[in-house]
Amino acid sequence: MLSPREAVRTLPSYHPPLAGREGLRLDFNENTVGCSPRVLEKLRRMTADDFTKYPERQAVEGTVAGFLKVSAPETLLTNGGDEAIHLLCQTYLGSGDEALIVAPTYSMYRIYARAAGANVISVPMGKNFCFPANELKERITSRTRLIAVANPNNPTGTVATRDQLLELAYLAPEAAVLVDEAYFEFYGQTMLDCRNESANLFVARTFSKAYGMAGLRVGVLIGDAEQMHVVRLVCSPYNVNAVALACVPEAIQDQSYLAEYVEGVLEARACLQIMLGASGIEFWSSEANFVLLRVGSSKTDSARFVEQMRRRGILVRDRSSDPGCEGCVRITVGPREHADRLLEALQSTIEECGIAQGVSRR
Ligand SMILES: Cc1ncc(COP(=O)(O)O)c(C=O)c1O
Repeated sequence: MLSPREAVRTLPSYHPPLAGREGLRLDFNENTVGCSPRVLEKLRRMTADDFTKYPERQAVEGTVAGFLKVSAPETLLTNGGDEAIHLLCQTYLGSGDEALIVAPTYSMYRIYARAAGANVISVPMGKNFCFPANELKERITSRTRLIAVANPNNPTGTVATRDQLLELAYLAPEAAVLVDEAYFEFYGQTMLDCRNESANLFVARTFSKAYGMAGLRVGVLIGDAEQMHVVRLVCSPYNVNAVALACVPEAIQDQSYLAEYVEGVLEARACLQIMLGASGIEFWSSEANFVLLRVGSSKTDSARFVEQMRRRGILVRDRSSDPGCEGCVRITVGPREHADRLLEALQSTIEECGIAQGVSRR
């Protein structure tokens, strides 16, 4: 009988939303307004000829590399940030290797690492979801081949410092150290300029979040040129489609659109956090375009909250099953018009669910 590999048979499942996300989507950290009008204009101008030939990634890779102030050999465009993570796992992990992953964090690190046959060493976040730098250091062994860190972290919105990340890279020279900067635009700090200090350091970015292009599936992986040469061997030749490739240069040229969006989100995030603090709701101060808050003590409480918000036309994400997140939901923040709708719905849901007052802000 046909049987999948042992590593695959025992994989945890991830349940992405593949249908029916009606309402204001504040559940998956996408841009709530949309991509730059320049991207839409480019899409309108595309012709059949643009789709007839296989997509050519190289020129756009050069454009993105130039924008990021890195070289083209260091840069690989990927099918979303997810493919960047997947490629690193495929390239560096094998059976019996160890991957150090904090918890809670983005689910796909664990899934791709395990699918590659590695043992995932889960390192709990510290108090108030502080980055567990010391605990990670203690868990490095001669078998550690991957350390994956989302910075800012999803779903907590908390961050690691550059020194903490660089130290991990120094201490684990035989491991690929991935700093996943999916929410970079809302945080503003990067490890890109440290890449020459440690050849095992990789940075991933995405066009799915601030740029508003999640449906086009484009990410970027940046690393040491020699290492990236090997990563390319694993990569599908036409991993990024022609439509996405045509749109990327337009998106990065419209930095004023991006800046305006980010500014709106940062203002709205501050308003949301002030409101949560004033309502006595426990939340974690975020450096990304979402905020994690505790709306109760159990999955029942968080599920009820999510349902009440849905009835008010707003989708938010239940994170109660993540370690340390009992009773928590994660809410994506959009700029003004969406933040106003969110705050209104939040206020009435808080009242309806009778969420306890007087819990202090973390
Ligand atoms: C930390 C992190 N990395 C990567 C991704 C994947 O993004 P995409 O594959 O759409 O680029 C996400 C999406 O939620 C994320 O939160």
